[in-house]
Formats: sequence, structure tokens, C-alpha cells
Amino acid sequence: MSSLKRILVTGGAGFLGSHLCQRLVEQGHDVICLDNFFTSQKSNVNHLLGRPNFELVRHDVTLPIFLEVDEIYNLACPAAPGHYQYNPIKTMKTSVLGAINVLGMAKRCRAKVLQASTSEVYGDPLVHPQPESYRGSVNPIGPRACYDEGKRAAETLFMDYRRSNRVNIRIVRIFNTYGPRMHPYDGRVVSNFIRQALGGQAITLFGDGSQTRSFCYRDDLVDGLIRMMDAPDEFCGPVNLGNPEEFTIRQLAELVLELTGCRAQLVEEPLPVDDPTQRRPDITLAMKHLDWRPTVPLRQGLTRTIEWFRTIDLSHYRPPTPNY
Ligand SMILES: NC(=O)c1ccc[n+]([C@@H]2O[C@H](COP(=O)([O-])OP(=O)(O)OC[C@H]3O[C@@H](n4cnc5c(N)ncnc54)[C@H](O)[C@@H]3O)[C@@H](O)[C@H]2O)c1
Repeated sequence: MSSLKRILVTGGAGFLGSHLCQRLVEQGHDVICLDNFFTSQKSNVNHLLGRPNFELVRHDVTLPIFLEVDEIYNLACPAAPGHYQYNPIKTMKTSVLGAINVLGMAKRCRAKVLQASTSEVYGDPLVHPQPESYRGSVNPIGPRACYDEGKRAAETLFMDYRRSNRVNIRIVRIFNTYGPRMHPYDGRVVSNFIRQALGGQAITLFGDGSQTRSFCYRDDLVDGLIRMMDAPDEFCGPVNLGNPEEFTIRQLAELVLELTGCRAQLVEEPLPVDDPTQRRPDITLAMKHLDWRPTVPLRQGLTRTIEWFRTIDLSHYRPPTPNY
């Protein structure tokens, strides 16, 4: 049997999805990129449109669709707080109905299906760093719940389809990932800082900047997604994918200033509701089962991301929501 596969990537025009599509197309697979362009634009995949093994479908994952595929990467979901809080009910529907639709397709086609879950399932964690066995500390009625609880419900659906219908599933919990092609108006800390620094604006720190995050470069992350899809069927996850090196938000801001050569001021603003104070993945499982660990240090990844930000015309990027 040929090792070339028909692969569906939902959310395939997004930041991570477009890189995943690119890698899979380069490997020779037949790739279907499905997206409703809520937080992305065609320009992310324009360079793939002429390739005979790439197909772009404008579709909303909350609605059923019939395709014949061997593998599905389910990435469709707004990922940045300003995006997912814009229409929280739709966010929940995207996670839950989207999961039901891709799982139904996987069951019908006997396809493998991978869910892009998130470190947000751990909420504001009481255990640090977070192993997959930690069940999380999520506020189910807060403004972030549409995303956190939507992703948690999707994980439940994935596990139940595995137990009840023997669907071949995989769950990855993605921690903060950055890199070229992230939406410049997504309101996430890396894109905010770079856009503000290059624009000569003051850099906004929420709180005093002492909260910590870990930052994974997109190439490492995409590599982890593919390794998980190719892992032995017995290992379905959930598995954490992220960079375990931890930085304070203030350290990140200072590094962005150094690498951009800009001399903007740092301005403190109040912390958003339910903003986690620390986040760092325990990647023991990923190292053991996938032989995966991040290879790109923050300084190097940020340098590449800043280079990309310097090349783009911000007027070509529409803020998808007023909440950025
Ligand atoms: N980037 C990160 O740091 C990170 C962290 C944790 C989890 N994730 C997960 O990874 C996935 C990709 O995230 P990203 O950073 O590339 O975000 P992104 O916003 O760039 O990509 C999401 C894509 O999904 C599409 N989409 C949204 N709703 C849809 C719908 N109803 N139907 C079809 N398409 C829809 C968007 O238009 C976009 O192209 C998401 O599921 C996200 O939750 C990302």
C-alpha cells in the first residue's frame, strides 16, 4: 500500500494549519484544507493553491461534510482570547459540533483523527509544570470557558468515540506557540509585543509582567503534530506539546525590544479575568512516546518571527473581531 495519504486539515488556513498543510503537501500527501476564514485569510495558503496535491474548501466545521480521507487533523477553532470571546457560543459550537463532525467522518472512513486541544484545559493550574494526568482548574462560567470547556468537551467526545466506536484518535494539548503567519491582530502576547515594538508604540504588559509562559516555535509544534499522528495506535494521548522553558512576560517584552532594536516604553495594564499566572508543559510523555522535544530556542524563533513581521503589510490583515 502507498504511504501517501489523503489528509484533511480543518482550520488549515490558520497559523498552525497553514504550516501543517505545507509540510504535508511537501511530503507528497493529498491535502484538503478546510476553513471558514474566521481568523485567517487565503494569503496563508496562496502559495499552495497551484500544487496538484492541495485543495482548499471554504466550509464551517460545525456543519457536516462528506469527504473520503485517511487522516484528519482537527485544528478549526479560534485560538486567541480576543477571537474566541467575540462569539463565545459559536466557539463552543466549533469545538463540540466540529469534534462530532470530524469524529463521524473518521468513523465512516475508518480514518485516524487528531484533536488539537490546548493547555487551557488545565485552566489556572494548581500543579506546575502541568503533566497530562493533571485534571485542571477551570472556571466553567468565566469568559474563557467557551474555549476551555469547549476543548475539554471535545476531548471527552474523542475518548468516547474511541471507547464506543473504536475510532483511531489522538489528542494533543498545545501550549503557547508562535511564529511567522500568526495573525498580527490576534491579541496574543508575542504578536502584540512585536507589532507594538515595530510600530514604535509602548508595549502593553498585563499585570506587572511577572506571570510566566512557555513559547514553542511553530516548526517544532508542527513536527510534534505529525509525530503524534504517526505514533503507534495504542498511544492516543492526551500528550502535551510545548516548550518547557519558562519566561516571564516582562522577559519576553525585553527580548522583543532587544531584537527589534526598538526603544519603546513598557506600560502596565490590569490583568484580564482568569488569566493564568503560570504555564509550563511537562513533556515527559512526548519525549518518551514521540521522541519529541522542541529544538528552536526563543531568541532564534523570535528573530525569525520579527523578520516575517517586518515583511508584511498590516493593512492586508483585517482584525477578525473588535476584541483585540
Ligand atoms: N497557537 C497556539 O498557541 C495554540 C495553543 C493551543 C491550542 N491551539 C489550537 O490549535 C489550533 C490552531 O490554532 P492557531 O493558533 O493556528 O489559530 P488560528 O486562529 O490561526 O487558526 C484556526 C483556524 O480555524 C479556522 N476556523 C475557526 N472556526 C472555524 C469553523 N467554525 N469552521 C472552519 N474553520 C474555522 C480559522 O479561520 C483559522 O483559520 C486551534 O484549534 C487552537 O485551539 C493553538
